[in-house]
Amino acid sequence: MHISGATRVCGIIGDPVEHSLSPAMQNAAFESVGLDYVYVAFRLPRGETRVLADAARALGLRGLNVTVPHKVDIMSRLDSVDPQAEAIGAVNTIVNDGGRLRGYNTDAYGFAEGLKARGLAVSGREVVVLGAGGAARAVVFSLVEMGANVTILNRDAARAESLARDAVSASGREVGWDPLQEEVLEARLGAAALLVNTTSVGMSPLSDVSPCPRRLLRPRLAVCDIVYNPRPTLLLRDAAAVGATVVDGVEMLVRQGARAFELWTGVPAPVELMRDVATRELD
Ligand code: ATR
Repeated sequence: MHISGATRVCGIIGDPVEHSLSPAMQNAAFESVGLDYVYVAFRLPRGETRVLADAARALGLRGLNVTVPHKVDIMSRLDSVDPQAEAIGAVNTIVNDGGRLRGYNTDAYGFAEGLKARGLAVSGREVVVLGAGGAARAVVFSLVEMGANVTILNRDAARAESLARDAVSASGREVGWDPLQEEVLEARLGAAALLVNTTSVGMSPLSDVSPCPRRLLRPRLAVCDIVYNPRPTLLLRDAAAVGATVVDGVEMLVRQGARAFELWTGVPAPVELMRDVATRELD
């Protein structure tokens, strides 16, 4: 990689951040399209977003990705926030235009693009989302925007209700919610076209568990798991075994990154290359 006096700097802020796949993915992408850009990871402790916003302006950082624990905190430090990110209540990408910082949420876009790439249309279909945390927010908002009939199931039902209420007020669509229990899941999956896991159940090192019993899966129920470590998760292995269409978590990761790349550079992202790099890093 060639670094010059004119190299533009992008990066990711988070804590922890050292295991992020984004530096490998973004630097490979910059290099492949011949852009004089570099992407680095900055570990930023919780509560330090004001310092970060000032530093980004002062140093002329072109763009940032934002991850745990800053996605919500950062919003009040920005000059403007894209309406979709505002509705979701979280920013994962910042663009610095001459000192003016604008926030976006490319997780929602990345999720939607991943479904489209698999030929999954959700408009007017029943979709069950497991989980109601930060990752679920982008997924649920993306689904209601695409016209899906969403039901949120979460261990802590109050959290599911709260996310459902936010999604209803942003979209005007009906959004259901219930506690995450096997009987409820069984009843809800009967009519569903798609199941999306946004919980951390099945994530390494506790990778021998699945958030959905295998007996509830069937060929006509597409399954998306945003967990990408391990790859595939037990849920996706079970879904593939019954012949269902599966969408793995790398797809959302790659496509949120591709969208961020395009916002910073104005150049179409090399999505295939980014997927290859992310997959290789995971393996
Ligand atoms: P993220 O930003 O990755 O979504 P989070 O906000 O901590 O992280 O949310 C984690 C999600 O995984 C939540 O929906 C959580 O359920 P609760 O809200 O009930 O805590 C869910 N989750 C984590 N461990 C779980 C488990 N063992 N069983 C069921 N759900 C679990």
